[in-house]
This record gives sequence, C-alpha cells and structure tokens, in this order.
Amino acid sequence: VTNAAPLAWSSDERVIWHDLECGNYRFDLPLWLELAAATPGARVLDVGCGTGRVALPLARAGTPVTAVDTDPALLAELARRAGTLPVEVVCADARKLDLAFRGFALCVAALQTIQLLGGSRPRACFLEAARRHLRPGGILACAIVSELESYSLADGDEAPPADHLRRSGRVYVSHATAMRVEAHTIEVRRWRLVIGEGGRRDLPEPEAVEVLRLARLTATQLEREGRAVGLRPLPRRTIPERDGYLGSEVVLLRA
Ligand SMILES: C[S@@+](CC[C@H](N)C(=O)[O-])C[C@H]1O[C@@H](n2cnc3c(N)ncnc32)[C@H](O)[C@@H]1O
Repeated sequence: VTNAAPLAWSSDERVIWHDLECGNYRFDLPLWLELAAATPGARVLDVGCGTGRVALPLARAGTPVTAVDTDPALLAELARRAGTLPVEVVCADARKLDLAFRGFALCVAALQTIQLLGGSRPRACFLEAARRHLRPGGILACAIVSELESYSLADGDEAPPADHLRRSGRVYVSHATAMRVEAHTIEVRRWRLVIGEGGRRDLPEPEAVEVLRLARLTATQLEREGRAVGLRPLPRRTIPERDGYLGSEVVLLRA
C-alpha cells in the first residue's frame, strides 16, 4: 500500500490543504495531553506531525517534542509556528527512523497516521523503530479507524460536508466525495477546488482529485503486531465520534 505522489501543489498550498483537511480536529488532544502529563517534562515523539496540530499543544503544556514528518513544507511551517516552544522538527520516514535520542516516554501517531505507512511489513518497520526510540516503560499510542463504510457521492450516497478555508484572497475547498473500503485498504477520494478572487476560477489547474490510501487495520491486529516486536498492549482508549468527525480507537503499546 503506498500513497500516490502528491499533486504538484506549492509548499504554501500543501500547508493550506493540510490545515484544511487535518488541522481543525480537536477531540483527541485531551488524550495526548493526559498521556504526556503522566511523565512530566519527558520528551515526546510525534510521528507524522504535519503542521503541529498535536505537537504545538503538547509543547505549550511544557512537553518537549520531537516532531517527525516526511513533508518538509509542513515541517517548515511547524517550526515557524513553534517559535521558541520546545519543538524539534525532523524530516524522516517514520519506518526508518534513526534518531540519536532513544529515551522517549511517549510516541504519538495521531489521526490514523499509522494507516498511512502501508501494510503489515512497513508497519512492522515502524513498530520496531518506535520501540527502539522509546525508553523502557515508554508508550506508543496510535489512533486508528477500523469501522468504516464505503460511500460515493456519485452513486447518490450521503457524504460529509465540504470544508473550506480562506487564505490570501482565495477560497480552498476540500470535499471527501467517496470512500471505498477494500480487503486491505481504504481509499478516500477528495475533490479539491481553489477559487480565486471575485469567485473566478483563475488558477491554471483549479480542480483536482486527491486520493488517499489507508491500510485497513484493527486494534487486535495492531496489538498482535506490537507484541511481535516486543511491545506490550495496554488497555485501549477510544475517542468517540463527535460533530461529524469519525471516532477512533487508540492502541497503547508499552516498551
Ligand atoms: C493524517 S496526517 C496527521 C498529522 C498530525 N499528526 C495530526 O494529527 O494532525 C499524517 C501525516 O503523516 C505524514 N506522513 C505520511 N507518511 C509518513 C512517513 N512514512 N513518515 C513520517 N510521516 C509521514 C504526512 O506527511 C502527514 O503530515
């Protein structure tokens, strides 16, 4: 399972799409703050950090964060937003992580990031890497979605409402128009549209379809995979469905 190469958006646009499609979600933040507060002052690893939706609140609460992502545009924006907060950004693939520091108390993979890493083999590489970077007793916390149903706006199904964001005189619209749940993957198709000033569609390529592929994964499967690399499952947590956002299960694995 791999995700298609991103369309040729500029760095600024990648930040905008990321903020629009991931940045507004808040309902998981109390859990990450609670887990970090269990080991006050200890360093947290935020895997697939994006522009810092999770890393920034953690750092504001006094937790030093190492924030890892593969997208340099998102990391540059996170570093800018962090200012003097204790956030270190690292451009790296989570499946091949090899940091000098190996004493993290907590590693967070929020918002289904672990399902973006591919199938069981690449996921095992990530789980091994996470274990190597955690101190004894440290916790890997992964939010996953497993109970999903296919839909398609084109077939007359209901879809979640479109999201939009206004930046620099343009309106960016993102609409998840279809979800296809297959044997091993969940494919989400998002229609993206940019409307220029005055409502004109005046960009060279104003519309695009972005396809995101998530691996299908259950909590039981992830716990089994964790055990295989020496991580011990702890009781799961749940983040309930709210305000139109899907709920998720959070698998906790102790090093
Ligand atoms: C769903 S977003 C989550 C962003 C952020 N953690 C949040 O909760 O808002 C997934 C992030 O993972 C990053 N990502 C995807 N594959 C990755 C990989 N192999 N290693 C590190 N980061 C990755 C993407 O660039 C994206 O920023």
